[in-house]
Amino acid sequence: MASSEFADSADRPIVVASNRLPFTVQRRSDGLSVQAAPGGLVSALDPVLCHQGGTWIGWPGLELRAGEKMPVPDRPYAIAPVQLTDTELQRYYHGFSNRTLWPLLHSMPGRSRFDRRDFEVYAVVNQRFAEAMVERSDGAGLVWIHDYHLMLSPRRVREELVRDVALAFFLHVPFPPYDIFRLLPWDRELLSSLLACDLIGFHVRGYARNFLDCVERTLGARVDHSTMLVEYGGRTTRVCALPIGTEFETFDDLARAARTRAAGEEKVVLGVDRLDYTKGIPERMRAFERLLELHPEHRERVVLLQLAVPSRAQVAEYRQLKQEIDGLVGAINGRFATARWSPIRYLYRSLDRGDLAGLYRDADVALVTPLRDGMNLVAKEWVACQVSDPGVLVLSRLAGAAETMREALLVNPYDLDGTAEAIHRALTMDEDERRSRIAALRRREQRDDLEAWTNAFVRAAAVASEELPTMGDTEFAGWLSDFIKQYRVALFLDYDGTLTPLCDHPDEAVLSPEMREVLRGCAARDDTDVAIVSGRSLEGVRRIVGEADLTYAGNHGLEIAGPGMPHFAHEDLVHYRERAEDLAEQLDRIATDGAWTERKGPTLTFHYRSVPETQRAGLIREARALVQRAGYQPRAAHCAVEARPPIGWDKGRAVLHILRARYGPAWSESVRVIYAGDDETDEDAFRFLSGLAMTFRIGSPDSPTAAARRLPGVDAVRALLGWLARRPPGKT
Ligand code: ADP
Ligand code: G6P
Repeated sequence: MASSEFADSADRPIVVASNRLPFTVQRRSDGLSVQAAPGGLVSALDPVLCHQGGTWIGWPGLELRAGEKMPVPDRPYAIAPVQLTDTELQRYYHGFSNRTLWPLLHSMPGRSRFDRRDFEVYAVVNQRFAEAMVERSDGAGLVWIHDYHLMLSPRRVREELVRDVALAFFLHVPFPPYDIFRLLPWDRELLSSLLACDLIGFHVRGYARNFLDCVERTLGARVDHSTMLVEYGGRTTRVCALPIGTEFETFDDLARAARTRAAGEEKVVLGVDRLDYTKGIPERMRAFERLLELHPEHRERVVLLQLAVPSRAQVAEYRQLKQEIDGLVGAINGRFATARWSPIRYLYRSLDRGDLAGLYRDADVALVTPLRDGMNLVAKEWVACQVSDPGVLVLSRLAGAAETMREALLVNPYDLDGTAEAIHRALTMDEDERRSRIAALRRREQRDDLEAWTNAFVRAAAVASEELPTMGDTEFAGWLSDFIKQYRVALFLDYDGTLTPLCDHPDEAVLSPEMREVLRGCAARDDTDVAIVSGRSLEGVRRIVGEADLTYAGNHGLEIAGPGMPHFAHEDLVHYRERAEDLAEQLDRIATDGAWTERKGPTLTFHYRSVPETQRAGLIREARALVQRAGYQPRAAHCAVEARPPIGWDKGRAVLHILRARYGPAWSESVRVIYAGDDETDEDAFRFLSGLAMTFRIGSPDSPTAAARRLPGVDAVRALLGWLARRPPGKT
C-alpha cells in the first residue's frame, strides 16, 4: 500500500469502536439514566473524539425494552449504540471477553474458561460491530478498534472497508507470551483477524514482541522484528508500542481546585482500582498488614484507603473477590483497630473525578500493585495530582506503567515482605527525595500525556506500512543455517502452486527459466537430493519437470522413481486402474462449462476452474458423490476434486518411504529434511514431518497449516531454492 494512501486521514473524523460507549445506561424506578463508564479506556478516548469529531460505536450497557428510548448525553461527536441481547451479553461480554480473554491476556490462564458457544456468539457480536463500523466509515480517516472485546472485527471490517480509510487496533490490556496465548483454541482466528489492520498498537514493547512471536509461530506470518512489520495474506501490518498517557493538565487542575484536607490526620496510603482480581487488592491488603507487623510504629499513624469501583459483578470470580476483600478488611481491622483508629478504610463505589483528584493529591503514598496490568492509569493520574507536598508512588513491576515510571518504588506484588518494606520506605522518605522522584515522573507524564498518545497513534495510522523487503538470504539463513548445519539436505517440493503458479490447465504450468536454474543448482550439489512430490501422475510430473536426476513421486506418492532406490508402485494400485477409467467416464458426463477430468492412471482429478462461481457448489457436490460411490476418497484441491484410493497412503507416507529407501531407517541422523508445498495434500506431509523437518506452506494465508513457516508464493520459493543452491557446502 502506498504511504500516500491515507495522506490527509489524520485530520479527518475518526470512527472509534469499543465494547463500551463512554457512558452506561441504567434502569431505575424513575426511568433510564446515564452514568460515566468505568475504566481506563473511556478515560482515554472521550477527549480524543471531543477534539477530532466522528462516531463512537459501542454497547450502551443495557438492553432496551420496547418503547424505551436511549438517553444520550450531549457529546460533540455521534454515538452509535450496538444493542446486545441478554444471551449475547452473557456469552460475548461476561463469557468470552471476561472469562476467557481477560484472564488469558493477563497471563492468568488458570482462570480462563474455554467454551465454543461463547466464542461463536463473540464472533456474531463482532460481526455486528464491524457492520456498524463500515456503515459509519464514510468520510472518516481512521477506523480505530479498541480492546480485547473486538479482536474478531478487523477482518470483517477489512472485507467491506473503502480503501482510503486506515484500519487500526489498540489493545489496552497486556498481550501474553506465545506459550500462554496458544492455550486459546481460537488463537489463529483472533491473530489473523488482527492482521487485517494497517496498524496494531500495544502499550509496551514486551506485549508487541509477544504478539509478533505469536503471529510468526502460530500463523507462520513473516515478521521483521526490527521494524515490527508483519506480512500476512498479501498485506503488511505495522505493530507499535505506544504507552498511553493520562489527561495530565485536567488532573493537575482538578487537584489544585480540590478541597484541602484537614492537617494533623494520619498518613494515607491510597489504593484506587476497579474491583478486579488482576489488581492485586487482597495481596495489597496483606502487604499492608505485614507492614503493621514489621513496623508497629505505623500503627495508629497510617491508614490504607482503598477505593474499589464495582466491576463485572456477574462473573463469579469477581463476586468471590468481593467476598474475599470484605473478609480481609474485617479480619485486618479486627486484628489491629484501636478505639480511635482502623487500619483499612474501604469504599466500594465510584467517585467523581474532582473528589478523586483531591484524594490523589492528599495521599502520602499511592499503592498501585496490580498482579498484571496493561498500563494502569491510576498511577499516572496520581502523579498528575501531586501539585503540593508530593507523595511517593509504590508501583508493581508487573504493570505496563512500570516500563516508563522508573522513579517509582517498584515492587513485586506477590512479595508481601518486599511490598511492606517499600511502603515503609515510602512513608519515611525525606522530602528532597520525594520531590526529585515526583519531578521526574511529572515531567514525563506531562510530556507523554493522553493527547500526545492519541496524536502519535493517529499519525502512525495515517502513514501506511511500507512493504517488507522481498524475502532474502538473511531471512533464509536465519531460519535454516542452524537447522542444516553441515548435514545433507533432502529437499521435497510440490510442483503446482509451489514451483509454478497455478494455471487454468495443468499443461500450462511450466517451470520458469529462473526456477529451473535454482532447481538445477540444488540438484547439482553433492550434499543435496531433490524430490518432486506431486498429485500429477508419475509420468506427467516427470515430463513437465524434465530434469533427469531428481526423484519423482506421482499420484500423491503412490508411484515413486528416483536414483538410488527401486521403483515403487503401491501394491493396491492395480485394483484402481479400471475403476478410475469408469469413474472418469461418469465425471465426463457431468462436466459442463469447462469442467474436465484429468486421467492419471489409477487416480484422477476433476477440474472446475473455468466453471462460473455460481454453478460450482452443485457440481462439486455431484462430483464428490460420484467419486465416493466409485470407492475413492474425494479431496478438495485448488479448483478441483481429487479422487484418491482409500488405502492410507499420502504424501507424508511417500516422503517417509523415500527417506527410508535412500538413507536407511536411521535417516534422521544423516539428513535434514526440507519440504515446501501449497496444497491440502501437502498438509499430510507437514503433519508427518512436524518436528522432524523444516516445512513451508506456500500461499493460502487463511488456511490453517501444520507447516512450520509460510512463504507468500512461488517467487519466495525461488529465492529459497536460490539460497539453498548457494549455501556453504555440507556433508556429501
Ligand atoms: P482499568 O482500565 O483496568 O480499569 P486503569 O488504572 O488503567 O485500570 O484505569 C482505571 C480508571 O478508572 C482510571 O481512569 C481511574 O481514575 C478510574 N477509577 C478507578 N477507581 C475509581 C473510583 N473508585 N472512582 C472513580 N474512578 C475510578
Ligand atoms: C479495562 C478494559 C476496558 C474496559 C474497562 C472496564 O480498562 O481494558 O476495555 O472497558 O476495563 O471494564 P468493563 O468490563 O466494565 O467495561
